[in-house]
Amino acid sequence: MQTMSKSVMFCGVLLAVLVVACRAAEPRRDTFGPSKGRHGAMLNGRPLAKRVCYFESWAIYRPGIGRYDIEDIPAELCTHLVYSFCGVSNVTWGVLVLDPERDLGEEGGYRRLVRLRDNHPDLKVMLAVGGWGEGGKKYSQMAMDPAKRESFVRSVVEYMNEYDFDGFDLDWEYPGAADRGGSYVDKDNFLYLCQELSEAFAAVGKGWELTAAVPVAKFRLQEGYHVHELCEILDAIHLMTYDLRGNWVGFADVHSMIYRRPDLDKWAYEFLNVVSLHSYFLALVDAARIPRHLYCTQNDGANLWESFGCIRDKLIVGVPFYGRTYTLGSPSNNDLHAPIMQWVGGGDPGPFTNASGSLAYFEICIYQRDDPAGWIRRYDNIGKVPFTHRGNQWIGYEDADSVKIKMDYIREKGYGGGMTWAIDQDDWRNECGQGKNPMMTALYEGMKDYVVPEPPPITTSTAVSNLVGPTDHDIRGDDNRASRCDDDPRSQPDDSVTRPM
Ligand SMILES: *[C@@H]1O[C@H](CO)[C@@H](O)[C@H](O)[C@H]1NC(C)=O
Ligand SMILES: *[C@@H]1O[C@H](CO)[C@@H](O)[C@H](O)[C@H]1NC(C)=O
Repeated sequence: MQTMSKSVMFCGVLLAVLVVACRAAEPRRDTFGPSKGRHGAMLNGRPLAKRVCYFESWAIYRPGIGRYDIEDIPAELCTHLVYSFCGVSNVTWGVLVLDPERDLGEEGGYRRLVRLRDNHPDLKVMLAVGGWGEGGKKYSQMAMDPAKRESFVRSVVEYMNEYDFDGFDLDWEYPGAADRGGSYVDKDNFLYLCQELSEAFAAVGKGWELTAAVPVAKFRLQEGYHVHELCEILDAIHLMTYDLRGNWVGFADVHSMIYRRPDLDKWAYEFLNVVSLHSYFLALVDAARIPRHLYCTQNDGANLWESFGCIRDKLIVGVPFYGRTYTLGSPSNNDLHAPIMQWVGGGDPGPFTNASGSLAYFEICIYQRDDPAGWIRRYDNIGKVPFTHRGNQWIGYEDADSVKIKMDYIREKGYGGGMTWAIDQDDWRNECGQGKNPMMTALYEGMKDYVVPEPPPITTSTAVSNLVGPTDHDIRGDDNRASRCDDDPRSQPDDSVTRPM
């Protein structure tokens, strides 16, 4: 109680100072101006929320009832379908088709995905490049050399024309990540690549969208992303607000907790959640209409992108339709943060997705359906996501209710929409009695009538900057904008594991 009132008082004083400082300096419109061309459905001059569905093209190779084909996609629930993935050739530096038999030809994946548009004329069908399996090295090499970038851009335009895609999604994981074969020069080069793609798309004039899937850990942003400029160039930013924990952290946990759990989240993981620690403080600041990036923040997640200077309505919050799994050290020690046998690489592989450390939502719900007494259902009351365990198997996942909570949050914040990795991991056959595609339906219901509000302008104010925040230069150049507030110890969140992407 005592601490609470002290911190409230502190916030109040700080707020008063900020308000005075803000009044003193008339905020001016950022020279980058309003975000560029909007696409998709509009209502009264404002865009309707995006519902972005990634599709894993390899889902067609799953055995038995796990086989998921393009015609299984509930296209009516999505505004954007993203075919994952193509790669980059280290010979031509153009697009590399990863599985020609699956992807190409009249009955290949590219054509059939685009044909879903025949019955859903408003649908945007996109091609994604990269993903976890591609690594970062080739992308670093390509982006580093203007001639290679040009080859890549030319090749992308050819594929877009040939297959009639509506957009292109960059999933380089991650620019600037030395642990993924990258280099510190990637940060600038990734921006150049985006600029050149954007210019080439504009020259074609078919209204193609350009988007990127991005991490939410602060050190990743600092290493590889000119956030403010990227958000100007790209049509949408797909936040990978999942895999925030996994077998690699060394304890059992959920992986898309929306808020920080004060008793659990420490050290490198303190601020790694969907929203951030400071939502209470941020609410006060927002209420006073103080631009977010004018004070230092310590949060990862969606707020981090905003506080680094990204305009709010371009942020699309990701929701995983899969769980992260663990093998417990002891079945009786099964709470959040329970000890695990990390060396086995996660929980047992699922019957359909066959990967240690992750399970599709439909696999999880089938487990629970078949053994409702065995799988104990639990809930992270702060992180607002479910977990379940049986014996030494432990799963942190999402369900329709937790998806709904995230959609409510997106609307409350004025973000641009919701995204899922991946549509083929939902219970599309209604194996579990909640109807077909219960997860995607929750996402759809939460977003379908949501008109994205006009975002507050990105403004800068020297007086306030001098007082508490980054300098005007920082805001223009975006170098380590928020880094003076802290330096996260380099966490090792996601690199020693096979991820499903
Ligand atoms: C290009 O990629 C192939 C396949 O991944 C690899 O075997 C080869 O060594 C690479 N070539 C160069 C020049 O890096
Ligand atoms: C599952 O993956 C393992 C390797 O990770 C492989 O040896 C095995 O054949 C796969 N099983 C199925 C059914 O695909």
